[in-house]
Amino acid sequence: MDAPLTFAHLSDPHLTSPAGASLRDLVGKRALGYVSWRLRRHRRHRAEILDALVRDLEQVKPDHILISGDLVQLGLRHEFEQARRWLAGLGPPSRLTLVPGNHDLYAATAWDDALRLWAPWVASDVGDGAAAAAGPDGCFPVVRLRGPAAFIGVSSARPSPLFLAVGSVGPDQLRRLERTLAETRGRGLFRVLLIHHPVLAGAVHWRRRLTDAGALRAVLAREGAELVLHGHAHRASIDYLQGGAGSIPVVGVPSASAAAVDDDRHARYHLYTLARRSGGFTLTLSVRRHAAGGRFAADGAPRPLAQRA
Ligand SMILES: [Fe+2]
Repeated sequence: MDAPLTFAHLSDPHLTSPAGASLRDLVGKRALGYVSWRLRRHRRHRAEILDALVRDLEQVKPDHILISGDLVQLGLRHEFEQARRWLAGLGPPSRLTLVPGNHDLYAATAWDDALRLWAPWVASDVGDGAAAAAGPDGCFPVVRLRGPAAFIGVSSARPSPLFLAVGSVGPDQLRRLERTLAETRGRGLFRVLLIHHPVLAGAVHWRRRLTDAGALRAVLAREGAELVLHGHAHRASIDYLQGGAGSIPVVGVPSASAAAVDDDRHARYHLYTLARRSGGFTLTLSVRRHAAGGRFAADGAPRPLAQRA
């Protein structure tokens, strides 16, 4: 029997500071976003909490780390560079898979000033691995095969008009995703879908929704997946979606840096252990929560999440 595979999921670290942005940078949506960051957001997202999370990951040493977007605030080039340095310290690209969130593509941005700077973490290791360096078309879904798992990262990030934080997958990416889900199912892999926006209807306010969530759910209903992970809601959640051969756990994780009063909104990350068992899989979820003393610690016992016979 293979050794179990462990993987961590964190989201929405919002780790960068837009301070120092020039007035030329702060036009339209970015001007409002900057005011919001100055007034509220910089107090909600705390560097010392994220630092403690990274120290915990160094102790726990998961085999792989998944990040479901919103690393930055306003999607400025200097924020992408800051986040790139943080990613490089967190883990090598072979151990870390990333999809962008709406804050990462906050406004229309040249590819060279944005996701190209994170290309090593959004490059597939099957198919054309160089696609991420070449441009946005065809870059997603990113596919990483690790032991019994296929990590499949979908981008739902796109610039939204003022006061909206919506996302979409788009018909081309949906077609590629459907093919990828079919191929990886054919290989008997445990398919983990990673996306920034929640896929279930009503999971967030309509101003923050995934506009083509229905089309994505239809793909999942046809091809299935074994686990769907998302962020964006800044709230912990576990739901189930009918798809393929059975129900698919859909798990949301709060922001990795959030100082919140509500337990389900306070900083945490999720640690999964995946094992092959007599032709199927077992999956357990352990919650690692920011706790007293400023450290991250296990929050309750690991719980079985899904079994596929
Ligand atoms: Fe978001």
